Amino acid sequence: MLTLDRVTKTFRAGAFGGGSVTAVDRVSFAAAPGELVSLIGESGSGKSTIGRMVLGLTEVSAGSLTLDGERVRPGKDFYRRVQGVFQDPFSCYNPVFKADRVFALIRRAYHPGVGDREWADRVEKAVRDVRLDPGQVLGRYPHQLSGGQLQRLLIARALLLDLRFLVADEITSMLDASTRIDVLNLLAGLKERGLGVLYITHDLSLGTYLAEKTVVLRNGRVVERGDTQKVFGNPLHPYTRTLLAAVPRLNQPWTAAVPLDACAYHEGGASPGDDLYETEPGHFVACAALPACGRTRA
Ligand SMILES: Nc1ncnc2c1ncn2[C@@H]1O[C@H](COP(=O)(O)OP(=O)(O)O)[C@@H](O)[C@H]1O
Ligand SMILES: [Mg+2]
Repeated sequence: MLTLDRVTKTFRAGAFGGGSVTAVDRVSFAAAPGELVSLIGESGSGKSTIGRMVLGLTEVSAGSLTLDGERVRPGKDFYRRVQGVFQDPFSCYNPVFKADRVFALIRRAYHPGVGDREWADRVEKAVRDVRLDPGQVLGRYPHQLSGGQLQRLLIARALLLDLRFLVADEITSMLDASTRIDVLNLLAGLKERGLGVLYITHDLSLGTYLAEKTVVLRNGRVVERGDTQKVFGNPLHPYTRTLLAAVPRLNQPWTAAVPLDACAYHEGGASPGDDLYETEPGHFVACAALPACGRTRA
């Protein structure tokens, strides 16, 4: 179980580190085993920063972030259970070495006692599990493989660990449509094995349909979150509606997205207390959407 409770990240910014940027502002949500949570928001909204905090690559400034009740403690033991896959699979490979070197590194770090034959069997099984043909991908250099194949090999590598949680940051953005579906099917399979997944995306992509829960992020803050069906079946916040309006529908002519009728209160930044309201069980929204707020711009 991944739990974020009012997690905040402040970066130093500006010359001499005088200023600061709050990239993530009191973000709370949870992901249970076997659950895929999609984190959606425009570029710069703080999604990757959240992913990096979950992976222990960036320190949390305030609030609490726990996995199975424990604070993130980056190290060998932690990365056995938690792994990340990122947008650009090429950057995860050293072009000088064959792609399966990523498996050799896992073996050296985590399974030094496993014999050659047994290890080869495990790698083949993991590669087949991500629907690749071992004969076609093993022994190749990264430039001889496609982005989708490299992405799937990274997931296969994660499968060789005792993985409990996967952070997938824009992993389908660079893939063509059919490969994207393969990768999404793979994520669905991981969920069935009981893995928790944080699926980060900048638009309402197909992956959203896999998500039990959706968290909509804007300027580092959650504007709406909850059960995916509720958030997109009955979107309340103007920003969520804008995201939905930006999804092309082939049977309808293009209409410009509705302008964002933002809450001045939230645009301003600081706000006291807890500002997400539970409008129905499992559906939370920031005050902008509520008439009772009285802070929406006309
Ligand atoms: N290491 C860093 N130092 C300073 N600012 C950062 C750093 N990393 C991210 N930011 C800032 O935090 C904000 C959120 O960035 P990011 O999490 O990458 O957004 P997203 O993934 O949603 O596009 C941006 O304004 C970005 O410039
Ligand atoms: Mg990002």
